[in-house]
Amino acid sequence: MEVLIRPGNHVLSLKPGEPLLPALRAQGLPISYSCEDGRCGLCRCKLLRGTVVESGRPPRPLFGCRTRYLLACQSSAAEDCAIEIPDAGEPVIHPPRRLRTQVLGIESITHNVRLLRLSNADKLLFSPGQFVELEFGRGLSRAYSLSGLPGDDELRFHIRIHPQGSASQLITERLQPGAMLRLRAPYGVAWLRRQQEGPMLLASAGTGLGPLLSVLRGIAAARLQNPVHVYTSFMSREDIYGLDELAAALAALPNLRASHLVVAYGQLKRGLRRGLLTEVLEADFSHFKNWQANLYGSPFAIDAAVHLLRRRGIDEDHLHADPFHPYGN
Ligand SMILES: Cc1cc2nc3c(=O)[nH]c(=O)nc-3n(C[C@H](O)[C@H](O)[C@H](O)COP(=O)(O)OP(=O)(O)OC[C@H]3O[C@@H](n4cnc5c(N)ncnc54)[C@H](O)[C@@H]3O)c2cc1C
Ligand code: FES
Repeated sequence: MEVLIRPGNHVLSLKPGEPLLPALRAQGLPISYSCEDGRCGLCRCKLLRGTVVESGRPPRPLFGCRTRYLLACQSSAAEDCAIEIPDAGEPVIHPPRRLRTQVLGIESITHNVRLLRLSNADKLLFSPGQFVELEFGRGLSRAYSLSGLPGDDELRFHIRIHPQGSASQLITERLQPGAMLRLRAPYGVAWLRRQQEGPMLLASAGTGLGPLLSVLRGIAAARLQNPVHVYTSFMSREDIYGLDELAAALAALPNLRASHLVVAYGQLKRGLRRGLLTEVLEADFSHFKNWQANLYGSPFAIDAAVHLLRRRGIDEDHLHADPFHPYGN
């Protein structure tokens, strides 16, 4: 079977059942990967033509996305195919890690958000905007996004506490500083692209502020000159947190154009904007052609924002989002 690879128009001849990822790597083609077992999503490619056989779950598409994706580590060609490797100009190759790490602290930041601090003694490699899978015990793993940068001494997570949540309960009632936790990482496709041009829209809803801070710090560290527009949204004034850390990250950006704090309900202080994230974006921009966007947080807000950006013309390749869907197992 022949598989046409874009960009570059390389042709791979594969046997039935031969997985794509090793074949792409053997040819030195620029594909991102880490886990090689279908979890991290990094080897996600577009399926332009043909059909593939998938040995694991296909990648979860963003809300309303019509593009067909496959995970190269989980797929083999069922017939002649054509695929496209996204971000071929800047592949991300992080060794998959399963670490045991120590809990340094668990602090309340709001009525329903905790800051979890873990030791980064083993210096986890990841890209800003990625997440890890924390293992709280047998069969209890949850996704949480990293809020810092790889060289930091600590791995920090902003964790929303859900009333009936298994991990939430463990974090609030049983987990203590000094305990050891296992994590698998790095995961996620909504990482900061450094080579994309044009203005950047960076938005968070609720604890999406965690990965947003990581991306802001990543932009400052790489001295990216793209104009940056930041929207941080919360449901109510009681939910707002992290403003000092946000202000410090914004102050370090080379080309910040605007930053908005958006609150959906309740009384507002000066300087805040009322509305849902989508309402404010809709009011501020008539189109997102040539923009790139990174969006994180509450699934309702982020799915709605993804839908809006698509309707307003953003290129699918420039739309990177992690809606924080429930991660039960
Ligand atoms: C890629 C990714 C990155 C994530 N990063 C973060 C992060 O940095 N910080 C963070 O707080 N969360 C994050 N999440 C979400 C988190 O993994 C889930 O919310 C997780 O299920 C919470 O576990 P729990 O055991 O506390 O609750 P669960 O036992 O999983 O769920 C308890 C109840 O709460 C509901 N519920 C759980 N999560 C949500 C949600 N997100 N929205 C609405 N209802 C929900 C469930 O439907 C269920 O009824 C991320 C999710 C993904 C997919
Ligand atoms: S390398 Fe394929 S999903 Fe991780």
